[in-house]
Amino acid sequence: MSDTLQDKPDRAAWIKGAAGCNIEPAIPVRVWRLVLLGAPGVGKGTQAQLLTQALGACHLSTGDVFRNAKTCGPREQSPPMRAAMESMSKGQLVSDDTVLGIVRERVKCLACGCGFLLDGFPRTVAQAEALAKVLDEKSIALDAVLDYQLPIDEIVSRLGGRRTCAGCKAVYHIISRPPALSGVCDVCGHELVQREDDRPQSIRVRMEAYHRSTLPLTEFYRARGLLLTIDAHGSAEQVLVRALKQLPAVATA
Ligand code: AP5
Repeated sequence: MSDTLQDKPDRAAWIKGAAGCNIEPAIPVRVWRLVLLGAPGVGKGTQAQLLTQALGACHLSTGDVFRNAKTCGPREQSPPMRAAMESMSKGQLVSDDTVLGIVRERVKCLACGCGFLLDGFPRTVAQAEALAKVLDEKSIALDAVLDYQLPIDEIVSRLGGRRTCAGCKAVYHIISRPPALSGVCDVCGHELVQREDDRPQSIRVRMEAYHRSTLPLTEFYRARGLLLTIDAHGSAEQVLVRALKQLPAVATA
């Protein structure tokens, strides 16, 4: 079994903050640079896994960076990172300064020739403005922002059944996307765990933070002509098809 993150060394470069992976597409292909928006649990991480396979762009999740830091020893964790993990366990947003610091350390991943799927970043208008500045400096443009939408009761049921691989971070659901062998990751064979912030109290705080800080981003990106609204009902594969159908319009715009 492989120990890699989604079989792509570039995800490891993002999650662990190592130097860039230097991977370039083997043949010239359409490079996609997308932001995935939506409430916690709507299925952004699951869609990112599928979109990576469909488009070749790398899945870059800020939540995965913080969760990975949690597995490091206390001496490897900086004070801002320790504060970030405390915020995360309560369901609160990590401060913009800390988030922007970890993104700046990984700016090579944004400039990667394979493109990117940003999941969980940006999450505030200040973060979106900072991202626009970084991309501008690199002469890179976003292709689209996919805004996934689903009623809250369905989201809560998705979160309650979620299990995540402790190794490669692949996402499962005990009912709708179970692994072949209960409690074991299909991709890398590591144990599947329930996230600390999927407790009911943390879910409530995360939803409030989403409504207060992240929802305004839909207007931010709509005003820039980038927003594509995606109905997140149905199976993950149905949602993927819906999103892919909307993308060519962007490619030819
Ligand atoms: P983060 O890791 O980004 O979490 P999130 O936004 O809360 O989103 P989730 O990962 O919970 O859900 P998802 O939409 O990816 O859904 P998933 O695909 O897993 O952030 C965690 C924390 O880190 C934050 O609370 C904050 O503290 C901090 N943080 C991170 N970035 C930050 C930033 N930029 N600024 C400040 N703080 C930051 O799916 C959920 C479940 O549903 C799974 O079990 C899945 O199998 C299932 N499922 C998915 N699709 C379907 C489907 N179509 N049908 C049925 N089941 C489905």
